[in-house]
Amino acid sequence: MADWSIVYNQWVPEEQTLREALCTLGNGYFATRGAFEEVNAEADAHYPGTYLAGGYNRLTSEVSGKQIENEDLVNWPNWLPVAFRHPGEAWFHIKNVDVLDFKQELDLKHGVLRRFVHFRDSEGRESKLHTRRIVSMANRHLAALEWQLIPINWSGEIELRSALDGRVINSGVARYRALASQHLELLEQGEHDEETMYLVVQTVQSKTRMAQVARTQVYLNGKASGVLPQTKIEQGYTKHQFKLKATKGQPIRLEKSVLLYTSRDWAISEPLQDACVNMVRQGTFEESLEEHKRAWQRIWNRCDLYTACNTKVQSVLRLHIFHLLQSVSGHTVDLDVGVPARGWHGEAYRGHIFWDELFIFPFLNLRLPAITRELLMYRYRRLPEARSAAVEAGYKGAMFPWQSGSNGREESQVIHLNPQSGRWLPDNTFLQRHISSAVAYNVWHYYQSTDDIDFLSYHGAELMLDIAQFWSTIATRNKETGRYEILHVVGPDEYHTEYPDSEETGLNNNAYTNVLAVWVIQKALQLKEVIDDSRYEELLTKLHISPDDLTRWQDISKRMYVPFLQDSSIIAQFDGYDQLQEFDWKKYKAKHGEAMRLDRILESEGDNVNKYKASKQADVLMLFYLFSSEELLSIFKQLDYDFKPASIPENVAYYEQRTSHGSTLSKIVHAWVLARTDRKRSWKNFEVALMSDLEDIQGGTTAEGIHLGAMAGTVDLVQRAYTGLEIRDNVLWLNPVLPDEMPCLNLQLRYRGHWIKLNLTVDKMIITFDRGWSKEVKIGVRGEVYTFKTGDQKEFNISR
Ligand code: BGC
Repeated sequence: MADWSIVYNQWVPEEQTLREALCTLGNGYFATRGAFEEVNAEADAHYPGTYLAGGYNRLTSEVSGKQIENEDLVNWPNWLPVAFRHPGEAWFHIKNVDVLDFKQELDLKHGVLRRFVHFRDSEGRESKLHTRRIVSMANRHLAALEWQLIPINWSGEIELRSALDGRVINSGVARYRALASQHLELLEQGEHDEETMYLVVQTVQSKTRMAQVARTQVYLNGKASGVLPQTKIEQGYTKHQFKLKATKGQPIRLEKSVLLYTSRDWAISEPLQDACVNMVRQGTFEESLEEHKRAWQRIWNRCDLYTACNTKVQSVLRLHIFHLLQSVSGHTVDLDVGVPARGWHGEAYRGHIFWDELFIFPFLNLRLPAITRELLMYRYRRLPEARSAAVEAGYKGAMFPWQSGSNGREESQVIHLNPQSGRWLPDNTFLQRHISSAVAYNVWHYYQSTDDIDFLSYHGAELMLDIAQFWSTIATRNKETGRYEILHVVGPDEYHTEYPDSEETGLNNNAYTNVLAVWVIQKALQLKEVIDDSRYEELLTKLHISPDDLTRWQDISKRMYVPFLQDSSIIAQFDGYDQLQEFDWKKYKAKHGEAMRLDRILESEGDNVNKYKASKQADVLMLFYLFSSEELLSIFKQLDYDFKPASIPENVAYYEQRTSHGSTLSKIVHAWVLARTDRKRSWKNFEVALMSDLEDIQGGTTAEGIHLGAMAGTVDLVQRAYTGLEIRDNVLWLNPVLPDEMPCLNLQLRYRGHWIKLNLTVDKMIITFDRGWSKEVKIGVRGEVYTFKTGDQKEFNISR
């Protein structure tokens, strides 16, 4: 990697699906994987997927004699196809030629994917192929590509083809291939004008319609050829064909501009009509590229994070920021979509929305908070569904689903395939009720960094109060101890979903769940002091929250139960954790490496991971990730538990030895909790998290979609953990301890209406307020609070 690009200098067929995911281009409205123009989907070799943000559809499949409905992120028609052939021969495909030279480059600065192939075919004809591609950040409906062929040692007739391929299905994830996959039906195909063709499809259940309109133009030796395509229609496949004379040494260049419109768009009349009208207004590839580059420049001006002291880290952080902003951007605003765990980069987890927002929002809050606000509105609009879910389960308030898609109903799969054993097994991870706390936590932290009181009053507070009400009704009072308990749930560690040998699902008193519930209730009570009284009262009435409810909230916030290991200051992950067996880590790590999916491995051996003290990912340690020690200690104090600061490193050490890092989120949390106490180990964890996708450390998962939580989480580690950034009591606190491996850092943050520049080295921090439109803000450095306003600059000695 160079600072601003990922470069592949060799064609390695086995890496192709991984590269496709990593070279995905998107703009927050749709995304297209980095597949080659000439390929169709081929199992485990090529997968040209195009996904619409929030473009879901439900299908029913029969699995093990059961009817199972799943909601999937739909793979829409492939707009990429371009290929050539010599008359009477097969169409060009990279696998059928000798590749003499190859280079593929993802240009992160400008959002351009380039490929160069020098090849020789079986007849000894040598050619060079150059392609460039964008998914426009300037016009969310637009994608464009340039495809150029140079005959090196031959001349002769060729045929060119450019197509829109609607014959696609969802087949990107091997584990789901036994499930129903035909999400699209064809509505219309045809020619709009001499250069423009179209294809219109619709999802079979959600009835989302998409029109794709493509214009293909050919240039010979640098000049418009004047050759018009012939439009040909095959069922689901609309194509432009050209017959041309190729001359040795003279480039044949094809430009393809594509507009995608859907029935979910606003400010349109009808997708096909609007796409056709707008196609006439599109300029050349170069003109589209120019606008697109400028849009990326505007994004980088706000979002770049610069460290000249570690160029490897620099490049990967940029890759992560790039993919985050391709998944959610200014174009996402008003689309009513959430942020998908795997980006719009593949079909893993079906494009669903999980708690990964917790790892993603902090970066957006401090750069582009309008996007977080929009993503929180995705949750707000699904409150009615969350309320019904609570009622159906016997509670009050709002119970958000573990996996969310179109309308906010629970989208977790009921059964899942263990690819290691080939068995379909029940999936009880939906019992992760802690997701609702993540929603409330995200509302509060958005408010903390923006001071957006309007959002908090009108939307955020409603979410927080309704979630607090849910916790207060799922919590039950244990008559013997007098403490409140939360039963039959699953914590973040998805390996433990029930007690071994128990018929019941779920676990009792997951510490993370219980502490978060208390935090939500406390904050919901405190809202009374933050938003105005009349609005608070209005919301209580609207949500049917009675004075008795508030009394119960108070009681729970003081008497929630948190389990500890016997005679120890180690927080127990859940009740009964003590009774589980220790796991033979040495044996399994030797065989399977550091990051293991122990649930799958053990099940395939006839064993059960529920029996062991073995976590998939950080669970108890999430508490030290989400809360500063001050905040956490105050929660424990209020609950009347004697939890001391010295216990934190003990807890970290205990669980570190018992975690398999089967989720990429886990290393983020470990890097974070070690950042102050063991900087070397923190950095080691950070490095693993950093390379999760680029090196596909989980062996094949990235090809199915990137891990946005890990991507955004690594950037956030740099911006918050290593700078010691925390917002407390209306002060932005900074306490930088840069890792030895990254001794300098420049970044800018948006905080409460100000853009703040930070220039850091190991012993100096310069804070500059260069742009802003709010009143002064307070910044705390090492215990002292300073007031800043636009134009101020201060330098601090931060040597250790
Ligand atoms: C993790 C979850 C995460 C999900 C989506 C799972 O493997 O265990 O914590 O939310 O992936 O990223």
